[in-house]
Amino acid sequence: MTTLRTESGPTYAGVLGVGAYRPSRLVPNSEVVDAIDSSDEWIQQRSGIRTRRFATDEETVVSMSVAAARQALDAAGVDARQVDCVIVATVSHLLQTPSAATAIAHELGTDQAAAFDISAACAGFCHGVALANDMVRGGSAGYALVIGVERLSDITDPTDRGTAFIFADGAGAVVVGPSETPGIGPVVWGSDGEHYDHIRTPDWRDILASGEMKMPCLSMKGNEVFRWASYGMAKVAQQALDRAGVSVDELDCFIPHQANNRITDAMARALKLPDTVKIARDIIDAGNTSAASVPMALQRMIDEGDAKSGDTALLIAFGAGLAYAAQVVVVP
Ligand code: UT7
Repeated sequence: MTTLRTESGPTYAGVLGVGAYRPSRLVPNSEVVDAIDSSDEWIQQRSGIRTRRFATDEETVVSMSVAAARQALDAAGVDARQVDCVIVATVSHLLQTPSAATAIAHELGTDQAAAFDISAACAGFCHGVALANDMVRGGSAGYALVIGVERLSDITDPTDRGTAFIFADGAGAVVVGPSETPGIGPVVWGSDGEHYDHIRTPDWRDILASGEMKMPCLSMKGNEVFRWASYGMAKVAQQALDRAGVSVDELDCFIPHQANNRITDAMARALKLPDTVKIARDIIDAGNTSAASVPMALQRMIDEGDAKSGDTALLIAFGAGLAYAAQVVVVP
């Protein structure tokens, strides 16, 4: 019997560069409140959000991804042609097929790269980072691009009180590649399909059967998800710290999915994060950008000097499925 030859990559991988794209149109709470009989005060108090950004027609899932990816590649000093795999986490690329990733890879000039989308909703970016880490270390990609991108304004009903003020648009990206030291800790991930219906879009067939042609918009059992995340996700975050061998005293940055500032507060309290840990609050003026929220928040913390090269950052993301993933990374 022939024994197959196998390959493996470098011992360690890391995040080598980060990029983000923020759409041009700033949308304050005052612009969304009338359609949902709400108020700026309620939205800020319940979620932390003051403003968010909505993409214009020109700011597509592909164009926003390309902009974020180019910035990440520049920061990493990696040419697009060196990228072997493009992983795109999104729920708002509105074609069932083909993926957004192949179009993005083409625009970037890396046509030879493997390219595919993953559907893990708000948790998608952290799933992508875990895959890229294993691909680089396993030898199936020299460099991998991980992109989180959403145009949730396309699939959010502006009259839905439970979602209209939360969801927003944007893109973030990282380059994952070989590293001399461990740059990405073990992933802690999982799913809780018992709550499959908590955040979802309707089945196209039900829309057709209703005879009412409209975009299948997101619905969310906000309070149930809020409680699930507030109680359960701190445990997952703690496991990610433990698996990476990082104590809260050694941690520099906490970058959770920007779902709701109160969920972030609850997790920080449960983890007993000391005051020295910088906490991402990008949601205040970016809203909840689902798969894009963690890389966008990371990019902002780097830009504003809150995350410095060599710092440890705990990432955790969670959402529809319900699905979740967390890992500690070293800031490039
Ligand atoms: O990104 C994927 C994961 N997603 C999340 O993690 C989101 C998790 N959920 C949340 O962030 C929160 O559930 C929301 C911010 C969406 C809502 O906050 P909440 O504290 O859970 O509000 P609620 O649904 O429990 O409603 C509280 C009250 C109700 O009034 P009563 O019954 O107390 O009189 C609602 O009718 O607020 C009312 N309400 C609103 N009032 C003004 C609900 N929606 C609105 C609104 N404006 N938009």
